[in-house]
Amino acid sequence: MTTVRPRRLRATPALRALVAETRLHPERLVLPLFVREGLTQPHPIASMPGVQQHTLDSLRAAAAEAAEAGVGGVMLFGVPAHRDAVGSAADAADGILNVATAAVAAEVGDALVVQTDLCLDEFTDHGHCGVLDGAGRVDNDATLERYTAMALAQAEAGSALLGLSGMMDGQVAAVRAALDDAGRSDVALLAYSAKYASAFYGPFRDAVDSALTGDRRTYQLDPGNGREGLREAALDVAEGADVVMVKPASHYLDVLAAVAAASPVPVWAYQVSGEYAMVEAAAAHGWLDRERAVTESLVAIHRAGADVVLTYWATEVARWLR
Ligand code: PBG
Repeated sequence: MTTVRPRRLRATPALRALVAETRLHPERLVLPLFVREGLTQPHPIASMPGVQQHTLDSLRAAAAEAAEAGVGGVMLFGVPAHRDAVGSAADAADGILNVATAAVAAEVGDALVVQTDLCLDEFTDHGHCGVLDGAGRVDNDATLERYTAMALAQAEAGSALLGLSGMMDGQVAAVRAALDDAGRSDVALLAYSAKYASAFYGPFRDAVDSALTGDRRTYQLDPGNGREGLREAALDVAEGADVVMVKPASHYLDVLAAVAAASPVPVWAYQVSGEYAMVEAAAAHGWLDRERAVTESLVAIHRAGADVVLTYWATEVARWLR
C-alpha cells in the first residue's frame, strides 16, 4: 500500500487554497487600452470581442474602472487620424497618445501606473516600428532618434513607465540617456526584450488599424530562438532597463522561465491579442469554460516566472478576485 499520498493536500478547497503555489493578484495585472483619434463612439474590435478602440472619454472611464478593480497599471496605445513616413504624431504634444496619457494620468495616475507603448508602428504610414532608409529597410539608428523624441513627449505627458516595444538595437540605452539628459531620470523603462515575430499579434493589427504589409522579421525574434531571447534580456538590463518582458506569453513559457531565472530586474509577460482571441472564440462556441481557461492561462504565465502580466482581461479578472 502506498504511503506517499500527494492527493491528501488536494482533498478540500481550503487545503488546495492553502498549498497553492501560484496566485493571481489584481495589482499584478496590467490592462492594455487603445485610444483612437477623432472617434465619437467607442469602436468594437471584431477580432477581440469585448475590447474596444476608445474615445478620450471612454478611455478615461476604462482606466478608472481598472483602477477601481485594483488593477496595477494600464498600457496605452494610440491610433492617430493621420500617419506619415516618420510617425510625426508619435512625439507631437497634441498627438493622440500623448493627449490621452495626460488625460489618464490626471484621472488615475495616483491609483495605478500609467504606461505607454513606445513604438512607431501605430504612427507610420508603412506600419513598421521604425523609419525606413532609401532602400525601404528599417533604419535602426535613425529610428532611435524618433524613439528618444517620443520618450520625451511621453514623459512630459505623464507616463510613468515607457514600454519600448520596437526591438531596435540600443533603444533602451538611447532612451535612458535622452531622459536623463532632460532631467527625467524618474521615468522607468520596460523593455520588450524577448519580443518574437509572432502570428499571435494578428488581432492587434485590427486594434490599431495597422497599415503594415510584409512582416517584422528583421527586428523581432525568430520564434525558434530561445537563447537569443535571453541575450536580448541581458543586453536590455545592461542598457538600463528597469523591467524586461517576454512576448507573447503562453507559447514562450520556456523563454519566460529562463529569463526569470537569470534576470536581476522584474520580468513581465504580455498575453497578446491572439492569445485573447483564441480563448474568446473557443468560449463563444461553448468549447471551453471561459473563466477557467482565462484563469488557467494567467496562472500558468505567473507560474513560469512572470511577476506581472499584461492582459486584455485585467479588469474582469481583478473583479473575479475580489
Ligand atoms: C508594437 C506592438 C505590437 C503589440 C504590442 N506592441 C504589435 C507588433 O509588434 O506587431 C502586439 C500586442 C498584441 O498583439 O496584443 N507597437
